[in-house]
Amino acid sequence: MGKRLSKSDRQFIISAKLAGHAWSDIEAALVENGCTAGRETIRGVWRSSDEKKLNDSIDRIQEKQDGENRREVSMASSRITTVEDLVQFAQVDLTTWYIERHEINKWEVGAKSVERDLTYVDGRATGTIRSDGGLRVAPLIQIKLWLRRIKPVPVFPTIQPVFCTENFEMPEVVREAVQRSVILADPHIGFTRDLRTAELEPFHDRRAMDVALQVIQYVSPTRIDILGDFLDLADWSDKFTRLPEFVQLTQPAVLEGYWWLRQIRKVAPNAVITLYEGNHDERMRRAVLNNMRQAYELRAADEMDLPPALSVPKLLALHELGIRWIGNYPDGEDWLNGNVRLLHGNTAQVPGNTAKAVVSKADTTEIFGHIHRTEWCSRTQHLRDRIEVIEGFCPGCLCRIDGVVPGVKEKQQWGQGIAVVDYTEDRHNIAPVLISDGRALWDGMLFEGEDRTADVQQAYPDWNWG
Ligand SMILES: [Fe+2]
Ligand SMILES: [Fe+2]
Repeated sequence: MGKRLSKSDRQFIISAKLAGHAWSDIEAALVENGCTAGRETIRGVWRSSDEKKLNDSIDRIQEKQDGENRREVSMASSRITTVEDLVQFAQVDLTTWYIERHEINKWEVGAKSVERDLTYVDGRATGTIRSDGGLRVAPLIQIKLWLRRIKPVPVFPTIQPVFCTENFEMPEVVREAVQRSVILADPHIGFTRDLRTAELEPFHDRRAMDVALQVIQYVSPTRIDILGDFLDLADWSDKFTRLPEFVQLTQPAVLEGYWWLRQIRKVAPNAVITLYEGNHDERMRRAVLNNMRQAYELRAADEMDLPPALSVPKLLALHELGIRWIGNYPDGEDWLNGNVRLLHGNTAQVPGNTAKAVVSKADTTEIFGHIHRTEWCSRTQHLRDRIEVIEGFCPGCLCRIDGVVPGVKEKQQWGQGIAVVDYTEDRHNIAPVLISDGRALWDGMLFEGEDRTADVQQAYPDWNWG
């Protein structure tokens, strides 16, 4: 039985392999020396040797990249012996990289000097390998370079402007289904007269009313709703002391009221215009009932299909202008759709509280006048099958707010405004347009009201319009 592999046998295998001998030669040499190692054992010795690992790297460039900016290059060879050699051999571009540091290792590898005389017959080797006991020694040099990029590549991407390549496409809006109402309230058209000059001082604010006219022209509404107190009718009430300054002024109020309705009809020839009776307009109906029942519902013989002779709708000639009249204050009302009720209203509380009071008892959205202030309040109802938002809204008034209108207390905090309300069958959107000092800013537009006194004067020159 042959001996097992000794340390010197192992060294012999490694050296022989380094010298380029075939497995069969080495096996044969060992057998010759009385060793029993098979070819697989011999291969195993070689594979596990450090020299093999070194041998594997000989003349082969090893590269390791650490991110974009660092890199290691190494090589073991008997021919590449300097840093410059390696830079050239590995084609390191020194305009891009610089050598941060380097390392040089040197080994000496040896192999036994052997003389072989082998022949192979049918896969078997016969002959001899003779060793003279000496070693051939070859130097191996390993060079390792640590490189760093001269101009580092940013680790995080540089911030770049963002270009949005997506085009926003406007969803198709069914505009045909959307209707629009411009809502006006409380112009209180009427006058006080200067007892010395007989000049008429208006209660209504012509510049504010002109803004309303401009907005109507601008939005081309489907309908226009004038929520009452169109005329002030100061001397038709027996509730207050009727000052001589207020007497006999219904005629100019009717004339100017008609003039404004004509202007509205002119800028909105196809709109449905509706005038609602307010408590001030109702004064005439009430006065007839209380003081002149004989005139109640009285009509001229040729005007039987028109409103009563002494009534606001007849005096304003609404039939001529194609304007609807909704009387029966305070119950008279109309609807924009199934959810939005329009009326003059008869609730008035301290500033800020009316819309709240209206909405707390309403079962649907209510848009009302009467309080001469812009107020808006909403509440949400949680019903069995849906959630419903109910609003109470007053757009404000178109009468003067400087104290000239009878009944106004100095600090009543009135405010001017109108509203543009879009609506479909089942929804709506209120857009208030606040007016101050004869101007309104809305929808990116500045509406500047003009004082139309000269136009009214031209239409009716017999009166001393102020
Ligand atoms: Fe009013
Ligand atoms: Fe009113």
